[in-house]
Amino acid sequence: MADDTYHPGLEGVTATETAISYLDVEHETILIRGYDLLKLATSVDYLSVAHLLLEERLPSADEHAAFRRNLAEQQAVPPQIWTILRQLGPHTHLMDALRTAISALATFDPTVSGVPADHLDGQLRTLLASMPVIVANMYHIRENRPLATPDPALSYAANFLAMITGHRPNPLQERAFDQLLTVYSEHELPNSTFAAIVIASTLSDTYGALTGAVASLKGPLHGGANEAVMRMLREMQTAEQAEPYLLAKLAQKERIMGFGHRVYMKQADPRAVLMKNLLAQLVSSPQEHELYQICLTGEAVMLREKGLYPNLDYYAAPVYDLLGVPIDLYTPIFFAARTAGLLAHIREQYRHNRLFRPRVRYIGPALGDVAS
Ligand SMILES: CC(C)(COP(=O)(O)OP(=O)(O)OC[C@H]1O[C@@H](n2cnc3c(N)ncnc32)[C@H](O)[C@@H]1OP(=O)(O)O)[C@@H](O)C(=O)NCCC(=O)NCCS
Repeated sequence: MADDTYHPGLEGVTATETAISYLDVEHETILIRGYDLLKLATSVDYLSVAHLLLEERLPSADEHAAFRRNLAEQQAVPPQIWTILRQLGPHTHLMDALRTAISALATFDPTVSGVPADHLDGQLRTLLASMPVIVANMYHIRENRPLATPDPALSYAANFLAMITGHRPNPLQERAFDQLLTVYSEHELPNSTFAAIVIASTLSDTYGALTGAVASLKGPLHGGANEAVMRMLREMQTAEQAEPYLLAKLAQKERIMGFGHRVYMKQADPRAVLMKNLLAQLVSSPQEHELYQICLTGEAVMLREKGLYPNLDYYAAPVYDLLGVPIDLYTPIFFAARTAGLLAHIREQYRHNRLFRPRVRYIGPALGDVAS
């Protein structure tokens, strides 16, 4: 018997069971397999959290070294992927390039059409390993620059950032980027993770589930918000202009990117607080101080006017900026970081599968005769 209660946007609906993560709003904690995500971000590195997500426990020092070695060995991307990316049209959004690359990667995997669960470990490692190489190089291809090569001597975060910017980050930059990747790594059941497990529930392949997740995460109501935030912060130019800028937008009933959240609603996104602290540590030049002041003013105005708190994307955007990351890469990097969480959910779905197939409330015309 179908439950015909309709919840637009599935708001408040429990759609699945998971042992991976939970937004414990009451205790303002993001639980990742029993750990607080923010404590993980400040005490272990992104690879440890990826290991926790995929292998269900934090790695020992030896396991960490082996995991890192294993990923470094699997970073090679088939050169045909670069050829495909070079053929894309002049209006290519980098999330479209990423979607295409992941989809194309499937065609080089001999295990892609097998029983998903049998080949999952290999696929998970390949995808996690190749994501930084793909993300950095799809940007270089679009900019007609030479491809970057990974440096296995660097940490996952330092290598990822170095492949984008072309220079080795200093320890603060490396830590900031690592923490950014970590806070983006997993967040329960956002639209993209839901999309991925819905696809996986048909026993379609891992690449397909991830490709669907890229399309979801591109949207400005989801991952695309971080790019929109940076464009907005740049338009404001000075802290003095931030308030009139926001008031004018609010008067037009416009949504301000980087504020609000379906789950957190009327409380701070704990990840935004961490990013705000990082931003404060990263600022050094007068221009960077001004950017920081713009952010603070924006936060105060939105709280006063709408009672809304910043979400992760609001403070991640200026952190990216200070790390020298081009705006167009903000959302692809978010996706690259989220790959660990997505793959954990896809695997969990395969292990405890039940096909997603909800019903609708029909509001179309009643049954009528076909005119003869
Ligand atoms: C994330 C988001 C989609 C969640 O939205 P939601 O749960 O569907 O909430 P609603 O759209 O129902 O919004 C509830 C109220 O808050 C307002 N609101 C929510 N986010 C807002 C924002 N960013 N700017 C201005 N008003 C906002 C809505 O206008 C609405 O007000 P109303 O009741 O007076 O009409 C929404 O907050 C948003 O669009 N944020 C901007 C995009 C963003 O930063 N996304 C990244 C999320 S991590």
